[in-house]
Amino acid sequence: MGLDPRLTDIVALRERARRRIPRAIFDYVDGGSYTESTLSENRVALDRLRLKQRVMRDVSNRDLSTTILGQNVPAPMMMAPTGLTGLVHPNGEVEALKVAHRQGLPFIHSTSAICSADDLAEGAGVPYWFQVYIMKDRDFTRYLLDMAKRSGATTLVITVDLVVNALRHRDAVNGLSVPLRLTGRSVLDGMTKPGWALRMLRAKRVGFGNYAGYLPKGTGTQSMAKWVATQFEPLLTPEAIGWIRDAWDGPIVIKGIMTPEDARLAVDYGAQGIVVSNHGGRQLDGGQATIDALPAIAAEVGGQVQVYADSGIRTGADIFRFLARGADACLIGRAALYGMGAAGPAGLEHALTLLRNELDVAMALTGCRSLSDISPDLLIQD
Ligand code: FNR
Repeated sequence: MGLDPRLTDIVALRERARRRIPRAIFDYVDGGSYTESTLSENRVALDRLRLKQRVMRDVSNRDLSTTILGQNVPAPMMMAPTGLTGLVHPNGEVEALKVAHRQGLPFIHSTSAICSADDLAEGAGVPYWFQVYIMKDRDFTRYLLDMAKRSGATTLVITVDLVVNALRHRDAVNGLSVPLRLTGRSVLDGMTKPGWALRMLRAKRVGFGNYAGYLPKGTGTQSMAKWVATQFEPLLTPEAIGWIRDAWDGPIVIKGIMTPEDARLAVDYGAQGIVVSNHGGRQLDGGQATIDALPAIAAEVGGQVQVYADSGIRTGADIFRFLARGADACLIGRAALYGMGAAGPAGLEHALTLLRNELDVAMALTGCRSLSDISPDLLIQD
């Protein structure tokens, strides 16, 4: 059965995902921290930026391709690291890697994934990027790096904006746990979405895959999650970053940069790329929109390292806005997960294709033939 033709944009995919997966999972994907003000600011700031219509040019051939850390890609996009993707869809991370690979786009595997890095090697067997948090227990961090290396990770993405866990009210109210716990409320909700439970019978895992092999056998998933929650290193000193840089033999990208000063630090630490990100409004509440932080950062380190960005992207025109403000490529977070939640791997593939097509149309209507034609003067801020 093909995809529902009414799923014509990310908004429609989000709505379908909301009706198709358990509420606790949907809210985990959809929500932000505390008052969700950074979450909404990411969108408001993007909407404020208007694209300038340019006409009477030759835009018959448009080229969206570029290179991301030396890899030729057909569009300036990659998949953001997202935890618990394997609860949105069975074996979600393996399926997502396969889709990204088919589309020629980098896939970043989250530390907090359901499928482990080893599962990726077994199920997909193609190169990918691994996202890591620096853990207080350095043996644990090294264990994650070793697994990443042997399973085909080429690039390490170090996320530095989660030194403590910000509270997401929706998760607290839903009693989100891994694996999902049955409560009266979740059972009632589940009865309206029986397909999800049936699909999940095919899941190889329902707990945290990357953590499972480190802790003593028999450690319950709940205690595992509790232990990991205490492990995020708040002491991100030069020693800590230097330690992980030396422990990884390959390119490094630092994710979670919001100021030019921190971008400069990341470059000094030896990063080959940075991700301008506020974690999609899931960490610091009351913060600036990523799109507004980007220009000063790109001015500081653009040209020296690759500058990637994310947070709030729901259309190809949003990607255009990020590129116009100095990003080399964008990470796709929720937009991809809405696709997966709406229709599994085919839905994810559809989400990425929609974004790409929308970017292509935005380029044609602003008179751009290649990504290098996308410049700040094609944006109007009112
Ligand atoms: C994330 N994000 C994230 N980032 C990271 O470095 N490691 C992680 O494990 C996660 N997990 C995660 C789960 C979910 C459900 C979401 C939505 C996000 C942040 C992610 O990589 C990216 O920065 C944001 O998703 C970008 O914002 P948008 O595009 O989703 O609005």
